[in-house]
Amino acid sequence: MLGDGDLRDVASAGGLELGDYDAVVVGASIHVGHHQKQLVEWCARQASVLNAMPSAFFSVCLTAADDTEESREATSGYLADFEARTGWTPRLRATFAGALQYREYDFATRLLMRLLMKHQDHPTDASRDYDFTDWAAVDEFARACVALPAGAV
Ligand SMILES: Cc1cc2nc3c(=O)[nH]c(=O)nc-3n(C[C@H](O)[C@H](O)[C@H](O)COP(=O)(O)O)c2cc1C
Repeated sequence: MLGDGDLRDVASAGGLELGDYDAVVVGASIHVGHHQKQLVEWCARQASVLNAMPSAFFSVCLTAADDTEESREATSGYLADFEARTGWTPRLRATFAGALQYREYDFATRLLMRLLMKHQDHPTDASRDYDFTDWAAVDEFARACVALPAGAV
């Protein structure tokens, strides 16, 4: 969009004319092995427009916080699965480790996450939250996104 950026939740992105924008950056998180269905479907519907314009995608998950072969495979698999499902090949893509927000989860989610985290040697003390995000990497990605319309990347 000429001028300021426009931040939208996918639920309110239905009527957007992407051609009015200089670049589009989409983000989604992984829950139980998949990105949010509504967002994947929106990207699939917009794929031909997105493929023809400066665009970027970032994925947030917790396997990205792990330095094991299994986790690296899972992390790259999430991106590959996203691109296969949507038919969109973003010019820029990134995966960031997210957060464990035990204090935000309901009882069942907290239990599920504690079990999963125990299995992966991550913190299980649910009295606090944990942020695994590499914010310097996010900053770098954001700068690359800003440069997208100029074709610098
Ligand atoms: C119910 C639930 C399921 C999750 N499943 C996965 C998973 O399968 N793989 C993974 O790498 N991360 C998983 N995560 C971690 C999230 O991707 C991470 O916490 C992210 O920061 C969540 O962002 P959000 O709260 O904005 O959705 C899960 C998190 C929750 C709460």
